[in-house]
Amino acid sequence: PRTVRLSPNFFLLQTLPPNSLTQPSITLTLQSSPLGDILIHPRGRSAINCVSCLWPKSADGTVLIPYNLSSGYSQQQVSLFQNSLQEFHTLTCIRFVPRTTEKDFISILSTGGICASFIGRIGGEQQVYLDSGSCMSRGTIQHELEHNVHRSDRDDFVTIMTQFISPDKIGNFDKMDTNNVGLEYDYGSVMHYPGNAFSNTSGQATIVPKPNPSIPIGQRIGLSPLDVSKINRLYQCDDSGLLLNSANGTVTSANYPSTYPNNSTSVWLIRTPSGQVSLQFIAFDVQFSTDCVSDYIKIFDGPSKASPVLLDRTCGMGLIPQLISSTSQMLIEFVSDTSITATGFKATYTSVQCGGAFYAPGKNFTSPGYPAAYSPNMNCIWKITAPAGYKISLTLHDFMMESAPNCIYDSLSIYDGADTSSVLMVKYCGTKSARTFNSTGNAMMLNFISDKSFQYKGFLASFVFGESLGSTIHKQM
Ligand SMILES: *[C@@H]1O[C@H](CO)[C@@H](O)[C@H](O)[C@H]1NC(C)=O
Ligand SMILES: *[C@@H]1O[C@H](CO)[C@@H](O)[C@H](O)[C@H]1NC(C)=O
Ligand SMILES: *[C@@H]1O[C@H](CO)[C@@H](O)[C@H](O)[C@H]1NC(C)=O
Ligand SMILES: *[C@@H]1O[C@H](CO)[C@@H](O)[C@H](O)[C@H]1NC(C)=O
Ligand SMILES: *[C@@H]1O[C@H](CO)[C@@H](O)[C@H](O)[C@H]1NC(C)=O
Ligand SMILES: *[C@@H]1O[C@H](CO)[C@@H](O)[C@H](O)[C@H]1NC(C)=O
Ligand SMILES: *[C@@H]1O[C@H](CO)[C@@H](O)[C@H](O)[C@H]1NC(C)=O
Repeated sequence: PRTVRLSPNFFLLQTLPPNSLTQPSITLTLQSSPLGDILIHPRGRSAINCVSCLWPKSADGTVLIPYNLSSGYSQQQVSLFQNSLQEFHTLTCIRFVPRTTEKDFISILSTGGICASFIGRIGGEQQVYLDSGSCMSRGTIQHELEHNVHRSDRDDFVTIMTQFISPDKIGNFDKMDTNNVGLEYDYGSVMHYPGNAFSNTSGQATIVPKPNPSIPIGQRIGLSPLDVSKINRLYQCDDSGLLLNSANGTVTSANYPSTYPNNSTSVWLIRTPSGQVSLQFIAFDVQFSTDCVSDYIKIFDGPSKASPVLLDRTCGMGLIPQLISSTSQMLIEFVSDTSITATGFKATYTSVQCGGAFYAPGKNFTSPGYPAAYSPNMNCIWKITAPAGYKISLTLHDFMMESAPNCIYDSLSIYDGADTSSVLMVKYCGTKSARTFNSTGNAMMLNFISDKSFQYKGFLASFVFGESLGSTIHKQM
């Protein structure tokens, strides 16, 4: 093995047949490996490490990158693409905006059978290939978009196993001349290639992290905290957002348990590697004001402040009920005004594989996998919250779980309130016919538990909100 310093962007150039990418003014060269994804401008590498590779900064501190999405994506893929932009918008000053007439822009194309980008801003229309068949995951979309934002770089030491790399692929491992903005090497970067990149021997790694070969590399879940820091340093963005991307962790207000600063806004984006985010507050003490106009916390069910609200402006003291996002992303916003501060908050988060929190009706939900059998050892919580003054009418349309006296093995418990301290309306198991349960307040909680043996199809439930359930619903939402 040969030890080299390298950047995550080691690549090999291969000229494709001229008609394989139709670009009238620029002859593109790019590698054919599905792992390689850098498009090279004919000006060559020397044109890459330059200040003008950055996109210009607007007077308001944001950096606009106009994009045009080709028509080759499904509605679901367009949503995924837009969702993938949100982490940049929430955590950095980069703003991908639909192109109107801007001269410099990125053109997102669904053709080509590849995932590939230029590096930095090259001027004019620059193409980004996101094949609609193989490139549409958040991590891959963010990887390709991040190429357009900057030069990926950062030095470190990994061992390159040249004995598994064919001679014509060795150029992929050239170190590029780069600007590492003073940050440590990031094994967890969404820009890093996986350990088997360009290997010519099945099962043999070409990139081995040092000193610990088992450090994971090549993730495509999404931006890493250092990817975010890097963009923010390079573009000198105000740094008020923190990305938390572990499966579990703790989040506290600044200086906790000392007083949080006056006049500040912070956001934390929690993105667990899989599943959904469950957030449990341990402490909460935020300056009280009527309608929380002064200091407050607000929590969103998704990656941006445009996502549905999980917890609206909250202030004062006391405990906030457990929150569960409907996806792997949850955003916390914390705002303080210019006077009076308190100790703030501390919360822990974990990734859960099932469950949910609903704030609007009209959504059916099921046990995991329904109508296929649920998995063993599940513990899922769903919380339904209606607006103040409304009640919840929950219907179980279909129900089949393992039967046992007192439902000691598998069960669904329905509580008339936000948590397990509320009145237990029913604990169900076995096979039941359709039935409706009405809350007395504006919250309801369901807890689904399965043990290690005997799995069935589970349940299908739906719910509506009404002002006065049990008699007549005056106003149904
Ligand atoms: C954007 O893409 C659409 C669909 O491919 C195309 O018709 C349109 O001309 C493009 N617009 C711009 C501004 O490039
Ligand atoms: C893999 O690469 C090594 C080193 O370049 C080379 O000696 C070997 O023949 C290659 N193996 C295959 C199967 O191409
Ligand atoms: C948190 O995650 C780590 C691994 O990332 C795991 O070892 C640990 O058990 C988890 N803790 C909880 C409470 O889930
Ligand atoms: C609050 O902070 C902003 C910028 O962070 C600053 O412009 C403003 O003067 C501050 N206000 C007070 C009252 O300190
Ligand atoms: C916030 O401002 C108030 C006066 O407006 C001051 O008494 C307090 O010490 C400040 N808190 C912090 C943490 O700076
Ligand atoms: C929810 O499930 C019920 C029963 O299967 C069905 O009648 C209803 O259309 C479903 N509603 C939605 C919004 O999917
Ligand atoms: C719950 O409310 C619905 C809607 O008003 C009503 O039809 C139903 O009879 C109520 N069920 C019970 C058990 O009170």
